[in-house]
Amino acid sequence: MKAGNATLSGYGTTIFEAMSALAREHSAVNLGQGFPDDPGRLDLRRAAADYVVDGFNQYPPMMGLPALRQAVATHDRRFYGLEVDWQTEVLVTSGATEALIDCFLGLLEPGDEVVVLEPAYDTYVPVIRRLGAVPRAVRLVPPDWTLPRDELAAAFSPRTKLLLLNSPMNPAGKVFSRDELGFIASLVVRHDAFAMCDEVYEHLVFGDARHIPLMTLPGMRDRTVRIGSAGKTFSITGWKVGYITAPAAVLRPITKAHQFVTFTTPPSLQHAVALGLGLDDGFFHGLGVPLARGRDRLVAGLAALELPVLPCDGTYFVVLDASRWMRPDEDDVAFCRRLVIDAGVVLIPMSAFYEAAPPRHLVRACFCKEDATIDAALQRLQAWVARQRSDGSAK
Ligand SMILES: Cc1ncc(COP(=O)(O)O)c(C=O)c1O
Repeated sequence: MKAGNATLSGYGTTIFEAMSALAREHSAVNLGQGFPDDPGRLDLRRAAADYVVDGFNQYPPMMGLPALRQAVATHDRRFYGLEVDWQTEVLVTSGATEALIDCFLGLLEPGDEVVVLEPAYDTYVPVIRRLGAVPRAVRLVPPDWTLPRDELAAAFSPRTKLLLLNSPMNPAGKVFSRDELGFIASLVVRHDAFAMCDEVYEHLVFGDARHIPLMTLPGMRDRTVRIGSAGKTFSITGWKVGYITAPAAVLRPITKAHQFVTFTTPPSLQHAVALGLGLDDGFFHGLGVPLARGRDRLVAGLAALELPVLPCDGTYFVVLDASRWMRPDEDDVAFCRRLVIDAGVVLIPMSAFYEAAPPRHLVRACFCKEDATIDAALQRLQAWVARQRSDGSAK
């Protein structure tokens, strides 16, 4: 038999799926995949259900229900002062994942270079490569996830088509500052590139951190694509409703990709998300509060187990340094597998977010969970650490 596509065949099943399967096999507490225990607001779920029963269930308009496109434009003005034409500058997609793929399909040519900041969400690089484009990875430097400015500047070339920015950033939990964004914007403008901004965690920021869309910086409005996800904002990750805001000329080829990839997104879900985007400011500003509490609960418990956590100002995730309990011959993947089997807790090895030569001592934990889930994971880890200590098997 002939082989499938060589680029994609070279990638295994995603680590999230593999670890979740292992979790089921070992009845482990899953702090791996990023989905909340929170079932989402009842009024939105009810609105979607009612729409299925009473509404129109045939193909909605290809660019999305007008109500949702208008809601996205209004949301962008309300939170970021962006003036957006809902008819030509907003596209609804089946999740941010489709939005990412539409953007890559719509903007890239073989040989184009894409500047990607690592650690990077796992969808980006395989798709860039599959299209014959070339990722240029620049690594943020742990433990503070510092932006290496000289390296970033050096990663741009005349072939750079776009820069990909994920802020707030999965898995690092970093929220880029205005100063960092200004530096990034200056490079994008100087090299006449596009910026593709994955902002699915835009409302999930903590404390004094503020999410600033790169699109709002001088010179960026006409060259930036902004991607959001209802899954993250409304704790309904299974709905897969995403939205793109982009200047009309940039959105046009992206829309061509969308029309061939999915064409539309279920109208019932679009209708409910439109209602959600219209909720009052208090709803959006309150989103970070329970998440920050979950983060603090998890971080305190991990610190007591000699598992220090790197700074985290947003998203669903913290990164922890597992060196203390790793065996000398072990990498992060082997460590996480052992943790599922021996401790009954799923974490994600950070090497999944790097293309080559990843750090091997870092793992990601998800805190968008109820207290009981976090406590159950911590109790299992405590028992496991106690066994490590008594075995003397730790370093
Ligand atoms: C950084 C980032 N981008 C995109 C997505 C995908 O979002 P969606 O579920 O809306 O497709 C995720 C989901 O975890 C994510 O973390």
